[in-house]
Amino acid sequence: MNLIIMGLPGAGKGTQAERIVDTYNIPHISTGDMFREAMANGTELGKQAKAYMDEGSLVPDEVTNGIVKERLAQADTEKGFLLDGFPRTIEQAYALEEILNDLGKQLDTVINIHVEEDVLVDRLAGRFMCKDCGATYHKVNHPPKVEGTCDRCGGHNFYQREDDKPETVKNRLKVNVAASAPILEFYNEKNLLQTLDGNREIEDVFVDVKKIIDNL
Ligand code: AP5
Ligand code: MG
Repeated sequence: MNLIIMGLPGAGKGTQAERIVDTYNIPHISTGDMFREAMANGTELGKQAKAYMDEGSLVPDEVTNGIVKERLAQADTEKGFLLDGFPRTIEQAYALEEILNDLGKQLDTVINIHVEEDVLVDRLAGRFMCKDCGATYHKVNHPPKVEGTCDRCGGHNFYQREDDKPETVKNRLKVNVAASAPILEFYNEKNLLQTLDGNREIEDVFVDVKKIIDNL
């Protein structure tokens, strides 16, 4: 199954993606994670992405499209994939059409998690992540079951994202609200768009996500 998960920053894409990939055993392809990994490794890609990510704007399409094209050509996507955070501009959506056409693949569905903007600010301010497996937590909404220990991998190292500072969050929301509208329209016209109310308990949202996937 070839899936996209969409939503504004903090909507819960990564949180739901974690559960989807653990349940359906498909690779999680997050452009944000790929850029952060490249930054941590000090690669050329990381250097290119850093300035954009630090200010909460979008990395240029030609850079982003290139890494997605390479990633989707890898063998582990044969059984399917979950794209998280891509496409994020209408040009990226067009580029994805071409990439998938070339690979002889088709999208099965686009899951859009809808959450109001004021809720998102609070979610990003309280977010922290496991350094070992990437699992996402929230200080209030979703702390680990045992304090200081990751539910998913048992790790003890956590971090907060550089771009979760309030001034960067403001810009990320502005940029993403503007960019996402035409993409939602594009997939809606193709009858691929399924929008869910993301302002509910994480596991309740996942029940609906599973229903969508199991119906494919
Ligand atoms: P990216 O890493 O994709 O960030 P984002 O889109 O801003 O989204 P987030 O990861 O912040 O939010 P999320 O929806 O995954 O929420 P999460 O599950 O963590 O991109 C980062 C940057 O990289 C971009 O700004 C850009 O610069 C660059 N980039 C990436 N892709 C690009 C592209 N295609 N083109 C150009 N540039 C690109 O949840 C958030 C918090 O809420 C957590 O604390 C979580 O525990 C909590 N939470 C989740 N669900 C719930 C719930 N149902 N109830 C209560 N709390 C919840
Ligand atoms: Mg994310």
